[in-house]
Amino acid sequence: MDHQIDRDKKSSKSREGSLFSLCSYFAIRSILPLLLLATLFVPASNGTHASEPRQMHPAMAQRIALMNRQKEAMELLSDMAAGRHVFDPKLARAARKSLIDTTQAIPKAFKKNRQGLQSHALPEIWQHPKDFKARAVTAHKAARGIATRNVIRLRKTLPPMVQACISCHQGFRDHDREFTTH
Ligand code: HEC
Repeated sequence: MDHQIDRDKKSSKSREGSLFSLCSYFAIRSILPLLLLATLFVPASNGTHASEPRQMHPAMAQRIALMNRQKEAMELLSDMAAGRHVFDPKLARAARKSLIDTTQAIPKAFKKNRQGLQSHALPEIWQHPKDFKARAVTAHKAARGIATRNVIRLRKTLPPMVQACISCHQGFRDHDREFTTH
């Protein structure tokens, strides 16, 4: 358990470091959303999800898995945009497709009001469902807007996607609630 937490801390540290180099790569106007991108990759609960999988409702586990698929796709695209990963149009297209599909699936994944200690979904999702859905639609459009023909186009079209993730998290995802498992 302690080892697990140590590992998580280490990996989020190196992630912050690599995001810093990513930021210096982009044009000034796109720096803000990319700085904020760091918040997407820091686990909100120090890996508590992984340590208590049995107690989580399947619908919650499913929507969190969906979010983690989005994170994977974004990490790959960011790495390619920053030159940490060689640009590969096929992989980029697949990541774009994954984001198109997952963003489309968001409203359904959060349709039922399910809250719990292991979830960071805020009650506002079900108090303001139209607003929540609108943000999912914005994210879906941003995913469609990602251009994968070459790395220059990818760099230009990625920031609106990052912004769409962050804008929903700001209103509907709880970053502060910490809880212990003992
Ligand atoms: C329409 C709203 C919305 C959009 C758009 C959105 N998210 Fe989320 N995201 C959430 C909510 C709500 C949660 C908390 C879910 C929970 O804990 O039950 C979350 C959780 C997460 C998590 C944490 C998963 C975990 O292990 O706890 C990651 C990572 C994540 N989102 C990545 C992304 C990425 C990357 C994007 C953009 C490509 C994105 N999200 C777009 C609402 C959104």
